[in-house]
Amino acid sequence: MNHAGILGTGSALPEKVITNFDLEKMVDTSDQWITERTGIKERRQAAPTETTSLLCIQAARKALEMAGLQSSDLDGIICSTISPDMPLPSTAAFIQRGLGARSVLAFDLAAACSGFLFAMTVAEQFIRTAKARYVLVVGAELLSRWLDYQDRATCVLFGDGVAAAVLGPVTPPAGILATEMHTDGAFAEHLYIPAGGTSKPASCETVRAREHYIKMRGNELFKVAVRNLEEVSRRVLVEAQLKPNDLDLFIPHQANQRITEAVRERLGLAPQKVFSNIHRVGNTSSASIPLCLDECVRSGRVKKGDLILMSAFGAGVTWGSALLRW
Ligand code: ACO
Repeated sequence: MNHAGILGTGSALPEKVITNFDLEKMVDTSDQWITERTGIKERRQAAPTETTSLLCIQAARKALEMAGLQSSDLDGIICSTISPDMPLPSTAAFIQRGLGARSVLAFDLAAACSGFLFAMTVAEQFIRTAKARYVLVVGAELLSRWLDYQDRATCVLFGDGVAAAVLGPVTPPAGILATEMHTDGAFAEHLYIPAGGTSKPASCETVRAREHYIKMRGNELFKVAVRNLEEVSRRVLVEAQLKPNDLDLFIPHQANQRITEAVRERLGLAPQKVFSNIHRVGNTSSASIPLCLDECVRSGRVKKGDLILMSAFGAGVTWGSALLRW
């Protein structure tokens, strides 16, 4: 059995910044409310010409470069996204073509904000069983395309961004130590886009009713998020026979700074062990954790041998944790 780990990371953010003050001009909100209730100050928004796959290709090239690999070395591509270029074909197909990679197993995975960790878990199985050596995993969202800029409850929260990681065999003790992923459809309608799928195909009426935009019951999700994030974080630590105190870095999904704080307190972690960039990028869904990781790796915040816990929560609802020795 091989041991899988991360060999390189990379990210790509659109240039355009939307500040809380910009949003004050669009909906009935304030910089003060957004900052106090979420921790977000600004987020990025893709230009009309930018697509999910274009940003994925940029991020993937940086991750491959850090890993010292060529796109032709890839044996698999998994793109975690709920904002694909188009319903058909997969965004992964456009990434494979754009990178000039071989015709490898490439597909999209939909698990919302937990998607990057889900995709990493899948990639790990291929590497562990030697079915694949190098797998590109991308967390990619252009959620601004699904945002209703008349709905203050959602449009202030989300931002666009993409980040990638190249996974491959590593020598222990480095690598992925434990993962655990969950989905519970009981809360499916707490965060969803009602129309555009088979249950309600696009029509003039769905467009008029603004049903192609994200709808969220944030308040209910908040409590489930805190509870599930704490629980799953503890479980992967137990599986690896480690304790919260052993962690060098905790990267939670960036949904809300108050969720991060609540989970940090419940786990008994010191503030300096928890990474956050939500003030600069908002909630970028499945790009959120790899964006943080790439920032930590490139800034030197992550050092060889560090124990890193990544925990996510998102629509579905989905949640999960991955424990990694760098
Ligand atoms: N500006 C000003 N006021 C606002 C805004 C806004 N942008 N949004 C809501 N409000 C108002 C509400 O209308 C409400 O007013 P009322 O009391 O007069 O009815 C008041 O503020 C409080 O609203 P709440 O929804 O109770 O506010 P809360 O403190 O819960 O914050 C938030 C809302 C930020 C959405 C929070 O609940 C949250 O972060 N939830 C979790 C989100 C999450 O985890 N999502 C899953 C991951 S995302 C993914 O998977 C794609």
